[in-house]
Amino acid sequence: MRNLKSAAIALAALALSVAPFAAAKAQDFPSRNVTMIVPFAAGGPTDTVARLIAESMSRSLGQQVVVENVGGAGGTRGAGQVAKAAPDGYTILLHHIGQATSATLYRKLPYNVLTDFEEVGLVTDVPMTMIGKSTLEPKDAAALIAYVKEKKDGVIYGNAGVGSASHLCGMLFMSAIGTPMTTVPYQGTGPAMNDLVGGQIDLMCDQTTNTTGQIKAGKVKAYGVTTPNRLKSLPDIPTFKEGALPGFEIAVWHGLYAPKGTPKVTIDKLNAALLTALQDPKVIARFADLGTEPVALERATPEVHEKFLAAEVAKWKPVIEQAGVFAD
Ligand code: MLT
Repeated sequence: MRNLKSAAIALAALALSVAPFAAAKAQDFPSRNVTMIVPFAAGGPTDTVARLIAESMSRSLGQQVVVENVGGAGGTRGAGQVAKAAPDGYTILLHHIGQATSATLYRKLPYNVLTDFEEVGLVTDVPMTMIGKSTLEPKDAAALIAYVKEKKDGVIYGNAGVGSASHLCGMLFMSAIGTPMTTVPYQGTGPAMNDLVGGQIDLMCDQTTNTTGQIKAGKVKAYGVTTPNRLKSLPDIPTFKEGALPGFEIAVWHGLYAPKGTPKVTIDKLNAALLTALQDPKVIARFADLGTEPVALERATPEVHEKFLAAEVAKWKPVIEQAGVFAD
């Protein structure tokens, strides 16, 4: 018992001796590059949001925020890498609604979505569009629904893996029309888009940050947007609410995270740089071109983000359990 007590005293003394060093290090943050992990392949919608935010944060932090793409397992591979990173602010995660849905979709996740991260702040909500290869037969959403009901698993639907927003959108669409399609997972919807434009797959539901350019260039067929109202950036694309599939709505929110235990002073510096990015005219203009906008600043705080994430995990849990779609 005496040994146990002296070991505890020694440990406490050690903790007290290193605390000032850790605090001094946090005060100096950032003294080198910051890595922003994007849990999907380069060239996709999440990557697009990340690079815009990272460029602005680099300027305000005075250090490079370097985007690193770590795809796989619907975003959970990249998220897991950040959950296990040193809690010093030098490894952060830009992720989206998949952070909430993966808590239910993956029953054996190597991390806990609600306790292994520090939320830094919400970033943006991005609408989705259902798009087809340019040669796909149906002319509009109603015809597409009839076509999928007839062809069933003869229709090839591309997504970024179970846990991705493109997977969630596809799951909601298939359950709304009561018909499964054949799904093909990619490391991100960047590579999936290449196959859709090339005609190797038939259909995909993806974020406007990836689809707007291809739609305007006529390289894919747009069937509808998943927002209640039409988008200024794509005014001719109808909403599913207008008739084809009322109730089929989804917007993909994005947030910034650090590993659990990252000092508050560091989180506050990252949050301040995020808030500056959300007010950056270049970010605002590019987001607008791509059909989205920064969240309101009062939503971009760590406290609001933490509460919002917990609410989203609770919101999607019954929906996913009802659909019976699990990754493992
Ligand atoms: C998704 O969840 O579908 C992702 O947005 C895909 C991506 O960013 O590549």
